Amino acid sequence: MDPRSRPYRSVLYIPGSKERALEKARSLPVDAIIFDLEDAVAPDAKEEARRTLRTELDAGGYGKRARIVRVNGLETAWGAADIEAIRGADIDALLLPKVDDPAQLDAAADALGADVPIWAMMETPRGVLNAQAIAAHPRLGGFVAGTNDLAKELGCAMRADRLPMLQALQHMLMAARAEGKVCVDGVFNHFRDEDGLRAECEQGRDMGFDGKTLIHPAQVATANAVFAPGAEEIDLARRQIAAFRDAEARGEGVAVLDGRIVENLHVETARRMLAKAEAIAALAH
Ligand code: COA
Ligand code: MG
Repeated sequence: MDPRSRPYRSVLYIPGSKERALEKARSLPVDAIIFDLEDAVAPDAKEEARRTLRTELDAGGYGKRARIVRVNGLETAWGAADIEAIRGADIDALLLPKVDDPAQLDAAADALGADVPIWAMMETPRGVLNAQAIAAHPRLGGFVAGTNDLAKELGCAMRADRLPMLQALQHMLMAARAEGKVCVDGVFNHFRDEDGLRAECEQGRDMGFDGKTLIHPAQVATANAVFAPGAEEIDLARRQIAAFRDAEARGEGVAVLDGRIVENLHVETARRMLAKAEAIAALAH
């Protein structure tokens, strides 16, 4: 299946140790969940979190939400046991943190055994520089921008306009798109700042990200709204498709709509947008 055919507007992190949040997620209108065993879980809570998460995954009830589990890296003391704990569970992807090169995906694939897609956090300078080779790995399903770690590694500021990390974000997007993979934007830390979140979602959407990773349920509605095609866009897409069909019937290869040209490539974009709107509607949340 094309990894980009399902929506990833809202991708909520949930600490694998928080039973209450794991339960709440079953009713939240998120497109995907990242069940976290890495940074959201303290070292002395790792073992308990593995057990809690496995029990909740086996209990199910997450509906059409994509289930992604973020483990600790295999180079840490916890990674191998994390993968062992979720081996055979019904999940949509394994998310590896701090991926620097494609060999780390081979190691995770071996440990996992099953044919589950592997996603990679893009959050180290080396990882971003190797993004193309990582994206081309046959098991790679998608990238998640790890903007907090990236800012730490680069030594850059977390500015509202994100200028200091735009190049890294664009680079990982370009690599993902070159290989037809999903690419989800990083988190917005101020989870009570609705306007700030909206602005950052809009920036990510305009750059081309499929959606945004989130840390709190209060952020879900904004991400869902910003990353969904709007009514005007859907209307324009339909009119572009119709205008081009009429032009073709007249033996012309270019149509004009609202004073702008419509070529075959615009029709492809319009069709993709309509397919995305349909996929969102099919989630029924
Ligand atoms: N997923 C699902 N439910 C969540 C949630 C999440 N990420 N964060 C909070 N909730 C739930 C809480 O359990 C609480 O549910 P309740 O009303 O049934 O009790 C409700 O939402 C309100 O939570 P609130 O009190 O506002 O937040 P908090 O102070 O409990 O937690 C954070 C704040 C930031 C610690 C918490 O949101 C969190 O742990 N987020 C994820 C962090 C993470 O995973 N980081 C790693 C990647 S950057
Ligand atoms: Mg990180």
